[in-house]
Amino acid sequence: MRALRYDRYGPPDVLTVVDLDEPMPRAGELKVRVDAASLNPLDVKVRAGHTRYVPMFERPPRGTGVDFAGTVVGTGGGDVGGYFPGARVFGAVSPFRRAGTFAEFVCVTPAEVASTPASVTDEHAAALPVAAGSAVQALGDEGRVAPGMRVLVNGGAGGVGHYAVQYAHHLGAHVTATCGPDNVAFVRGLGADEVLDYTREDYAAATVPFDVIFDTTGHASWRACRHVLAPDGVYVNTSPDAASVVTTLAEKVAARLAGRQRVVAFVLKPRAEAWRRLAKLAEAGAIVPHVRATIGLADVAEAERQMETGHGRGKIVVLPSR
Ligand SMILES: NC(=O)c1ccc[n+]([C@@H]2O[C@H](COP(=O)([O-])OP(=O)(O)OC[C@H]3O[C@@H](n4cnc5c(N)ncnc54)[C@H](OP(=O)(O)O)[C@@H]3O)[C@@H](O)[C@H]2O)c1
Repeated sequence: MRALRYDRYGPPDVLTVVDLDEPMPRAGELKVRVDAASLNPLDVKVRAGHTRYVPMFERPPRGTGVDFAGTVVGTGGGDVGGYFPGARVFGAVSPFRRAGTFAEFVCVTPAEVASTPASVTDEHAAALPVAAGSAVQALGDEGRVAPGMRVLVNGGAGGVGHYAVQYAHHLGAHVTATCGPDNVAFVRGLGADEVLDYTREDYAAATVPFDVIFDTTGHASWRACRHVLAPDGVYVNTSPDAASVVTTLAEKVAARLAGRQRVVAFVLKPRAEAWRRLAKLAEAGAIVPHVRATIGLADVAEAERQMETGHGRGKIVVLPSR
């Protein structure tokens, strides 16, 4: 099968399209033909070696990609959660493991997948798991967003942000979102009530406080925006790197000592239940993936170079068979 691999950590050039044996499912596993996958900053960071000292991550040579949607083509027997060959499924594999989803086939457990709704294409399903899962868990579970709340999505145009704007709008919140000048019209179209071009406007100058601030870029801080957060407001940071995690965890303690504001260093809980929740939201049209490009395995390196700029719109979908 065709798959994307790298033999050492490094720049996007280390990514190579190779021919590998198809994986064999073990008992309790499903073999899935990957009809579509999608790119996340996590893939870029692991490939670049940012996680090299975290022992759980299997070292190169390894594959890449965690999000996927596809079709079950076989099972290893045993309890496979009722899935059968021909079933359409989507989900995310663990980023720790060597075998990624930028490959024609992947073996997964039933705990890593949900059924793809008939009305949702594979390209859209593959664009959901990590990014939409993060938006939904951050706003729904951590922020407890409810109708009428004022929500700020810092970084409303990206993979996580474009779902966050849609989900906050779906929950009935008043949504303010930030983005670069090229993305203002796009973010407004997602349902944002107010859009701030971060090159000209500063959300920290807001006069009415926010109940929830979701920093999808992860580069703001509670300290920098606590004055525009309601007294019992919640600040959620997507933990983009180790330094942000340390800062956010320290701020969590500081916020607890200072008053009633809460600080969350967000970590996605990837599980079948989360993907089922996304399936329902996508089926209902509450969140609609914006796929800005659909590419083949050979184009992933260039897409990762673009992602490393920190700017972009929606999601990039990868078709392993292309
Ligand atoms: N902890 C977790 O479990 C978890 C889960 C998912 C994601 N994450 C992390 O969350 C981050 C975002 O992920 P993603 O998939 O959304 O990345 P992405 O698709 O690359 O989007 C990044 C977005 O950041 C925006 N941005 C850049 N500078 C900005 C600024 N100064 N103000 C406002 N927006 C700005 C860009 O918008 P413009 O193009 O308009 O500049 C771009 O759309 C990554 O670091 C990722 O690793 C963490």
